[in-house]
Amino acid sequence: QTSTLEKNAVSKGEYPHYMLKEIFEQSTAIRQTLSPALSNDRLDESCLGDSASTLLDGVKAVQICACGTSYHAGMVGRYLIESLAKIPCGVEHASEFRYRSPVVPANTLFVVLSQSGETADTLAALRYAREAGYHATLAICNVGSSSLVRESDLSFLTQAGPEIGVASTKAFTTQLLALNIVSLFLARRNGLDPQVEADITNTSLKQACFAVDAALALDDKISEVAEQLVDREHSLFLGRGVMYPIALEGALKLKEISYIHAEAYPGGELKHGPLALVDENMPIIAAAPGGKLFAKMQGNLQEVAARGGQLFILTDKPEEFSTSHDCQVLTMPTVDEVLAPLVYTIPLQLLAYHVSVMRGNNVDQPRNLAKSVTVE
Ligand code: G6P
Repeated sequence: QTSTLEKNAVSKGEYPHYMLKEIFEQSTAIRQTLSPALSNDRLDESCLGDSASTLLDGVKAVQICACGTSYHAGMVGRYLIESLAKIPCGVEHASEFRYRSPVVPANTLFVVLSQSGETADTLAALRYAREAGYHATLAICNVGSSSLVRESDLSFLTQAGPEIGVASTKAFTTQLLALNIVSLFLARRNGLDPQVEADITNTSLKQACFAVDAALALDDKISEVAEQLVDREHSLFLGRGVMYPIALEGALKLKEISYIHAEAYPGGELKHGPLALVDENMPIIAAAPGGKLFAKMQGNLQEVAARGGQLFILTDKPEEFSTSHDCQVLTMPTVDEVLAPLVYTIPLQLLAYHVSVMRGNNVDQPRNLAKSVTVE
């Protein structure tokens, strides 16, 4: 059956660019990705393939490999797998993995993440892993007929529909959802309370599309922030814990389509270098959801404010910050920690989009970049 997103793929519809259309398709993409993984309202691991139960049974560790935006999803995956399933998880750029003679720990599941399923380095890493004797391989991918899916033992198909804008958006957020689901499949085997799984499924995963819509509603406010960034040459993105990969993804989005230099750091690393760059010309975009690292992040942001940096803070705790010209706060919906990376990605995608449009760039086809990198 052809999904709505498949049918509408070739037309930009009411949108001026594919990227904006794809950003706004995310709540549908999330819903369509979750649906085939549910059976009688419960997550069903047979969505990974017939041999899923047997192959997942023996898994004692996970190694993730991917490139670009998919690599950032992999970094989030490591947090989810280690915190929910309590098994060790490594994550590495696919282009580096096979060149360092990796040691293969017993019973390790090798996971590749890819929108296209054809990225040369990711495919080479998968082939290397098969030769090297990993326990089993799993592809989380947006294209069912791709090489990665064909060559993996198991696969989870994200249902984002075709993604045309070079900068990946809906493929990324559906990968994050997929990683939540796979983490729960692994966690089941490692003592996760079934009630906790049911709570995550019902109150986070099934509600994710609504939180995405709430984040999309910030579009006008994000556009105002974009106006303040449009003439900048540099920017700094901050996050902590599972939000650090989201800071990396926000910086990647901005640099790839706006051509503004963007770096991302975990807040705790500021004093080890990047603070030297902070002055009134440095915009700092921070993802600061409430949770166990909130107070730490608040402290990091005070250090930045004390040095004159201009802060743009995404948070669901706006009352914790005093707003001024130098500290602008965008109020996010409150979501569980497992969902925060997905929801906080949305405003960062919109920010990059608006800055790129305001700078007159080719949003959907940025210079020097390709949608799918099929050669090394
Ligand atoms: C290219 C694209 C990126 C993408 C990366 C990995 O660099 O421009 O948007 O994240 O490839 O692609 P994949 O299809 O493997 O996710």
